[in-house]
Amino acid sequence: MRAHAAFVLVLAAACGGEPPAAEPTADAGVGWTLTDLDPSADVVEVQLVAEVAEVEILAGTSTEVWAYRDGGDPDGVAMVPGPLLDAREGQRVVVHLDNQLPEDTTIHWHGLRLPAGMDGTLAAQQPIAPGEAFTYEFVALDAGYFWFHPHMNGEVQIERGLHAPFRVRGGVEPEVAAERVFALDDVKIESSGALSGDTTQLDMMMGRQGNVLLVNGERDRELSCAAGSRERWRLVNSANGRFFNLELPGHRFLVIGWDGGMLAAPYEVDTLLVAPGERYDVLVELDDAVGESLELLNLHYDRGHDLADPGPKPIMTLRFDREATSAPAALPESWGEIEPIDTTGAIERPIVLTEIMDDLDPDAEPQFFINGEMWPDASMIERPLGTTEIWSIRNDAEMDHPFHLHGMFFQVLDGPMAVVAGYKDTVVVPKETTLRLAVTFDAPGDWMYHCHILEHAERGMMGLLRVAE
Ligand code: C2O
Ligand code: CU
Ligand code: CU
Repeated sequence: MRAHAAFVLVLAAACGGEPPAAEPTADAGVGWTLTDLDPSADVVEVQLVAEVAEVEILAGTSTEVWAYRDGGDPDGVAMVPGPLLDAREGQRVVVHLDNQLPEDTTIHWHGLRLPAGMDGTLAAQQPIAPGEAFTYEFVALDAGYFWFHPHMNGEVQIERGLHAPFRVRGGVEPEVAAERVFALDDVKIESSGALSGDTTQLDMMMGRQGNVLLVNGERDRELSCAAGSRERWRLVNSANGRFFNLELPGHRFLVIGWDGGMLAAPYEVDTLLVAPGERYDVLVELDDAVGESLELLNLHYDRGHDLADPGPKPIMTLRFDREATSAPAALPESWGEIEPIDTTGAIERPIVLTEIMDDLDPDAEPQFFINGEMWPDASMIERPLGTTEIWSIRNDAEMDHPFHLHGMFFQVLDGPMAVVAGYKDTVVVPKETTLRLAVTFDAPGDWMYHCHILEHAERGMMGLLRVAE
């Protein structure tokens, strides 16, 4: 812990300076950001309530969800996704969670580097019982786009609506006309509005795919945009199993950041694949004319097991209802600075992902393994603080698995992401391939690693790394 605190001070000193002036536009508008109850500039303190609530997903119906509410706002209502937690690099974050759900819960701060005891896994803390409260407290060490969600019965709790975006501002801030945060999700919902309680074999196999696609909890969302402007979008995929593969026809995405913050240099793509748990920070140049509109599409991505291609699906419409007040400014000349992790002398650790499905038994549940073991009956990896390893992740399954490590970032050594200097905490390991990553165990404590398809994690594809001080 002491080492951590020293690090915080160094970071805070290195990147002090004025917060950026322009307040980014939260997409959903007023009431969407958690109320900061601490007036001091170096602390964000919020009150979060987890409760059963009703929201409207299908027009004219009501859906019972489990959701977060801003307890610091007397008019706050529970919402899916939950309200944005907005902090700045170096700030202390204090979150009082009040569990009003009918079952135990925790909060995991996906992507944050924090003390292990605050990580919200069952390796780190006792479950928070109904009616009980718990205070999470840590420093936001890295600027980036993160998210939070429970880390128990996640397949059910996250699906029912417990997840929310977490933005940490800081670092290079390109000039944009609007900055928006998005959570991409889907729900499996009946025409009555009720969430489907039916978990099929296919749901277990692929991770539940909903029949309704949502952007910030809304289907067919509309966005009011300025023609000729540049926008910054931060995106997280909070779905249990669905991969989003985004296209903005006639436009490209300039990827400036990932899971762990800004890249050393941006890169451009025509389509943006966002797997469960991953985040992308992109710029879009909207060179359209006033009066035009543009659809954001979700394209099919073949993630295995011959999942059917439903064709492109529009998930959001951009309406150009005004002219930009000025042309986009020049982009920053330098972005993040990222040193490659030094892997001299590092051991290469095989991590093998497999699945078993009994095709002949209609009631069989698929099973998922890491190195032949199923969580919680899995052996722990135990290594001293400061060790660097290469994890060679062999996916022997016929489907992609988005692999996630808690508490520390890694660098990808194989595949298209290897050529981009940046830190990740979640990465797609495509079916029947091997992907290596480099990681330094710089945070003491017990940390989970798992597939972020929640049905897979809950059915065995999860493990524990102990970093000993
Ligand atoms: Cu979103 Cu164990 O993680
Ligand atoms: Cu995580
Ligand atoms: Cu998986």
